[in-house]
Amino acid sequence: MTPHLHPNVLRLLELPDAERQRAILAEKWIPYTRAQQALAKMEALLQHPTSHRMPNLLLVEDTNNGKTAILRRFCHAHQPQPLEDDGRLQWPVLYVQAPPEPDEKRFYNIVLDRVNAPHRINDHVGKKQLQVIHVLRQLGVKLLVIDEIQHILAGNQGKQRQFLNVIKYLSNELMVPLVCAGIRTAFSAVQSDEQLANRFEPVPLPKWVIGDDYLRLLLSFERLLPLREPSNLADESIALKLLSMSEGTIGEISKILKLAAVLAIDSKKERITAAVLNKVDYTTPSDRMKFHKLI
Ligand SMILES: Nc1ncnc2c1ncn2[C@@H]1O[C@H](COP(=O)(O)OP(=O)(O)OP(=O)(O)O)[C@@H](O)[C@H]1O
Ligand SMILES: [Mg+2]
Repeated sequence: MTPHLHPNVLRLLELPDAERQRAILAEKWIPYTRAQQALAKMEALLQHPTSHRMPNLLLVEDTNNGKTAILRRFCHAHQPQPLEDDGRLQWPVLYVQAPPEPDEKRFYNIVLDRVNAPHRINDHVGKKQLQVIHVLRQLGVKLLVIDEIQHILAGNQGKQRQFLNVIKYLSNELMVPLVCAGIRTAFSAVQSDEQLANRFEPVPLPKWVIGDDYLRLLLSFERLLPLREPSNLADESIALKLLSMSEGTIGEISKILKLAAVLAIDSKKERITAAVLNKVDYTTPSDRMKFHKLI
């Protein structure tokens, strides 16, 4: 009996160790509560009746805490598809990353590249804007997702404002809601535009703290890691140790657990224990920062 594993993971136990380790390192999706809530909010936006003033969402938090994973999950559920009657491609949810600086033309180039629309890089910005609006209308885009929105902070205030106006204009013109995501500093950038601040509902993804949600997250991870023995990750001492090593982000929790599970197979222990965690080749985010400051 191996009730600590998800039924789909059980069959992985038959694989050779190296393949089990590869499976451990693969991307995982855990439907934790806040992620599910964010997805539900995005779904509601997608169904929102069109208006010239669409509501928007802003996923904000520290780095490595699952923002992009949520956005990608949502896009995956709403992939581009050909229309049944005439085969025209429809692209309900369009995901792009903000350009590395708030540059309108680069943004349009990114959008056009994303949907494989032929375009001339050096066309005048006004022409590009018209092309973007035309192409997105044709594709039936219903929701525009802009990740890494904090990139706009790489420009001076004038540039930032101009870029915010660009996305506001696109949203108004196409009557589509925006879902933006970025680290916390992005929040202040968007707040600096009064109209946008009003229309963006912040959806925080705070760091994990000890509690039921966190313990459930650990149990979900455990069910996805093909180890023969139960690790009981939700036991207080292991849970606390993981929280302090990871400093509370899902990206770090996931990384540590994957490394530890690989080691648990190598060492034939087949479970993650405090001793295994101590042996994992892992540096905490704060120590990494200290190291970067030294060099
Ligand atoms: N729902 C989830 N289930 C399992 N693992 C997850 C989940 N969400 C995120 N992760 C893990 O956390 C890592 C970081 O997540 P993600 O890239 O979404 O963070 P982010 O908040 O977008 O970070 P950044 O601000 O640096 O862009 C992912 O690579 C993945 O390993
Ligand atoms: Mg991200």
